[in-house]
Amino acid sequence: MERKVLLLMENKHWWNNSVVYQIYPKSFQDSNGDGVGDLRGIINRLDYLKKLGVDIIWLNPIYKSPQVDNGYDISDYQAINPTLGNMADFQELIDGIHHRGMKLVMDLVVNHTSDQHKWFEESRKSKDNPYRDYYIWRDGKNGKEPNNWGSYFSGPAWKYDPETDQYYLHLFAPQQPDLNWENPNVRHSVYDMMNWWAAKGVDGFRMDVINLISKPKELTDGPLTGDEKYANVEKLVPNGPRMHEFLQEMNRNVMSKHKMITVGEMPGTTPEQAKAYANLDNKELNMIFQFEHMGLDGNSNPALGKWNDQKTKLADLRANFTKWQKGLMGTAWNSLYWNNHDQPRVVSRFGDDSNEENRVKSAKMLATMLHFQQGTPYIYEGEEIGMTNVYFDKLEDYVDLESINAYHQLVDDQHLLDGKTMLKYLSMHSRDNARTPMQWDDSKNAGFSTGTPWEKVNPNYSTINVEKALTDQNSIFYYYQKLIKLRHELPVITNGDFQLVAGNEDDPAVFAYRRQNADTTLLVITNYTDQTLQRHYDVPDGAKLLITNYADDAGETIRPYEAKVYQY
Ligand code: NOJ
Repeated sequence: MERKVLLLMENKHWWNNSVVYQIYPKSFQDSNGDGVGDLRGIINRLDYLKKLGVDIIWLNPIYKSPQVDNGYDISDYQAINPTLGNMADFQELIDGIHHRGMKLVMDLVVNHTSDQHKWFEESRKSKDNPYRDYYIWRDGKNGKEPNNWGSYFSGPAWKYDPETDQYYLHLFAPQQPDLNWENPNVRHSVYDMMNWWAAKGVDGFRMDVINLISKPKELTDGPLTGDEKYANVEKLVPNGPRMHEFLQEMNRNVMSKHKMITVGEMPGTTPEQAKAYANLDNKELNMIFQFEHMGLDGNSNPALGKWNDQKTKLADLRANFTKWQKGLMGTAWNSLYWNNHDQPRVVSRFGDDSNEENRVKSAKMLATMLHFQQGTPYIYEGEEIGMTNVYFDKLEDYVDLESINAYHQLVDDQHLLDGKTMLKYLSMHSRDNARTPMQWDDSKNAGFSTGTPWEKVNPNYSTINVEKALTDQNSIFYYYQKLIKLRHELPVITNGDFQLVAGNEDDPAVFAYRRQNADTTLLVITNYTDQTLQRHYDVPDGAKLLITNYADDAGETIRPYEAKVYQY
């Protein structure tokens, strides 16, 4: 047997063939009519998730928070946000998850807190406050910010605080001050908090922008390359000098004590770096979320950031997936995802939501492309029924601060785009696309809430909803259910080698790859286009058609958005 496969088997974890389902609690299910999803709403839907077959549930932040960034601004790590419920609800939720044989992963947001966290309230009081060093404070330079860094959410990354005549660093919103990980007290406060949740039965953590916690040694100006007003922190901050030291310390203090699953959100990370963070030797994290495949539709003008209307080319996508599959094979572990609460909907972005047939076909095709790769698949709420972008056409409909700030910066402030163009870009890339309420049925507000939803419901809920999906054996839901089941049943999906089919490297329309272990081969064929194509692949006699999104097999004729997998 190949050395790589052996290595993987030696390092087997309980979650290796698991599938994760991500819940954005505010948008999943409201149980009390206040228009905001809550923990009781999730409890009421656990049987649905069990039916889908997922193993692990990841909840976006449910902690006490002023909700400037929907819970990514935490004011108390050990309390539940009142709009979502209370600790008793949480206990019932985790018991309900465990009772059904599933596990729970919580979001860990420790690059920053809310400015209403008691640590920050103390920190800003005086320069000699015991909590001063919990955050990153600097003097201004010539009456301006300490350096030229821009925040991820537009504007400068520093805010002046008159109380002590200094600036504090905030890589995200001003209400999200960055913690100072150089301070051992910060680190140990975080580890204590993590162990406290582990004692409550939490099975793992998804770590928010964790590769930003170690800041560069000197916080000096970054380069400006074009029209941008501030230096791009995405290029300056990730993967700082003490990252491995901090994660290893966290692992010794927390992860090594529990049977956990950990995934670090790490924008700007390459396979080489991922091999160190998510090595099978298990000294740091189990896997990371990398973002390269989310940036392939990006801009040539850095000042526009992610705002554009390009569709990702299959050639780029395939090259990227292949790089990560081959790069980590036998050394580290991949996470596999198309969607999350920060990304537009997969079927609208990479597939085709222009008509019902193409929506269903392309959603299944994309699921097939991803779910046969090595790693841990993440399904984002609504992906399993093919929910689409909402395509708001007015700025007033947007709720997310990233979208609203970007509009004002690029249109009103810098005049780099006209309003109409920016609205088009928002409709394709805004995070609000992912955050519209879950579409349960065709009743008022898609069955999400009897009140007024905090974020508008996508009007297509009358045709795209869970109730409808469950009554149709050919729905996207049942296709995902089958993909999950296959991952549980076929070890080759977990441990097989990955190879592109010979000649596929240059195919502009079809992505074809093989997974192979000592006794099984899978041949995965996916058509990324709406064209009918002719392709020849060597399929041995007797090969079984394992799964397909068409009713039959047309052999060498590959139909629009067709996906099929042979097993032999
Ligand atoms: C990444 C999270 O996924 C995103 O939603 C959040 O706004 C930022 N980190 C800041 O916490």
